[in-house]
Parts: sequence; C-alpha cells; structure tokens
Amino acid sequence: MWNYTNSVIDHFTNPRNVGEIEDANAVGEVGSLACGDALKLFLKIDPASKKIVDAKFKTFGCASAIASASALTEMVKGITLEEAGKITNDDIAKFLGGLPEQKMHCSVMGREALEAALSSFSGEEVKKHTENESPIICKCFWVDEDKIRRNIRENHLTTVEQITNYTKAGGGCGGCLPDLDRILREEMARAGATAGSRIPGDTETGKPKKMTTIQKIALIQKIISEEIAQPMRNDGGDIELVDVDGNRVIVRLKGACSHCMGASATLQHLVQQKLRERVSPDIEVEEARDA
Ligand code: FES
Repeated sequence: MWNYTNSVIDHFTNPRNVGEIEDANAVGEVGSLACGDALKLFLKIDPASKKIVDAKFKTFGCASAIASASALTEMVKGITLEEAGKITNDDIAKFLGGLPEQKMHCSVMGREALEAALSSFSGEEVKKHTENESPIICKCFWVDEDKIRRNIRENHLTTVEQITNYTKAGGGCGGCLPDLDRILREEMARAGATAGSRIPGDTETGKPKKMTTIQKIALIQKIISEEIAQPMRNDGGDIELVDVDGNRVIVRLKGACSHCMGASATLQHLVQQKLRERVSPDIEVEEARDA
C-alpha cells in the first residue's frame, strides 16, 4: 500500500478541472494506454497577456497520475507561459506534499504534458517517439534515452531503481536494465559523481534490488547474447542459454567452444564471473548435459 499524503488523496478523490476545453488553443498529450498511463492536457491561453486562463485534463492512470494532473491544472491557471515553462516534475510532487518515489513518473508525465501543450501553442511540432532520433531504451514502456538522461540530471538520480521510479523504464521484463546501468554511470561520470548502484546493486538501504524471475532471466539472456556470445562468435564458438533454475544458469557451448579444452575455464571465468558481477553474486553456471 502506498503512503499517500492527504493532498494526493484529496486530488485523487476530488480531482479538479477534469474534462476538455472545447476552444483550447494548447493541447498536450503524453503516455499511452499500452504503457498504463496517458494524460491529455487542455489549456486556454490569452494571446495578449500570454497567461493561462483555463486548464483541464483527461487521464488514464493510477491515483498518483490523477492527483498529479489535477494539481498541475491548479498550478498553471492564472500564470504566464514563461512561468509555466519553469514548472518541473518536482514542483508538481511538492504541490501535492510529495509522492511515493515509485510514483514519481506520474509527476514526470504531468511535466511532459505541460511541455507538449506549451509547444503546441507556440506552433512547435511535438515529436513522436517514432520520429525521435533518441533510441528507445526500454521497449516495455517505450522510454527513449533522452528522457532517461534528462530525468537523471534534473532529479539527481543515483540508482537504476530510481530511474524506474521516475520513467518506468526497467519496470517490465528487465531487459533494458544493463542499458539503464550504463546510462546512469555515464551521467554520474559526467557529473563527477559515483553511481550509487549496479544491477542488482545496493540501494540506499543497503538491501539488494529485487528482480522478478522474468526480469532475472531476461537480464541473463541479454548479457549472454550481447556481451558473451558475440566475442565467442568472433573465435568460431557460440553459447546459448538453456535454462535458469534459481541461481543455476545452464548454458550450452557451441561451435569451436564445444570441444575446446578450456571450456570449463570459459564457463567459470567469462560467463559465471560476468553474470555474478551483473546479475547476482550467487550465480552458478553449468554446462548443459545433453541426453
Ligand atoms: S525493455 Fe525495459 S523493462 Fe522490458
């Protein structure tokens, strides 16, 4: 059960400004039903004073998404475009007295909808993901690299888990977790700091980050196919994942690797070591015994 502030509960149970503005001159739409959250923001802007005179929203999402959208409409009514352009996702969360960190992506969605609406008023074309040059990192939630980097910088994120909380990236199959880790490390290095967490590294509480079984298998599969198999193929060998049973990872060596004298060393020093470092220190790698 999430620990919601009274303000979040109030905006969720009694949302302000729900609906459409028929003659809105700025509309921003973000998210998608496929990803579980969507928000459409309607603004009526006075062209002379450049003030937002009305704001309404329609949303599909959880209590935090509804509360964030409701809060956002209250925050922008009566302020200038310039003032609205300075609103951050953190401002939305603070307006509500805070959001559970796992729900911060709802405040991010609010800020994105506001940015999209302001862009539509100024005539800027709002890029869709398909047109965006920034690569999609998380295919489960269709989150691109720019969004991840921006959230790390603006919200001073230091763990992969926080990236998931703010963007949803990594919250599905887990296949993008290595990329999130890489991006986090690059951003932390750029900022001159040390990343706070590897995968499945320690969180601020010192407890290991929990992955679901599906996330764990997806992560193992991704590391084997992208980081282990390719160098082997360059030498005429190959490797495939056969099964994962708890911390037992069963693989099959193929090609030149299958009859190599150093197969056991390859499993121990290349495969097992990498999986222990990236997935769990308890991983034990075994070679498949074909019947
Ligand atoms: S690709 Fe990111 S969670 Fe599945």
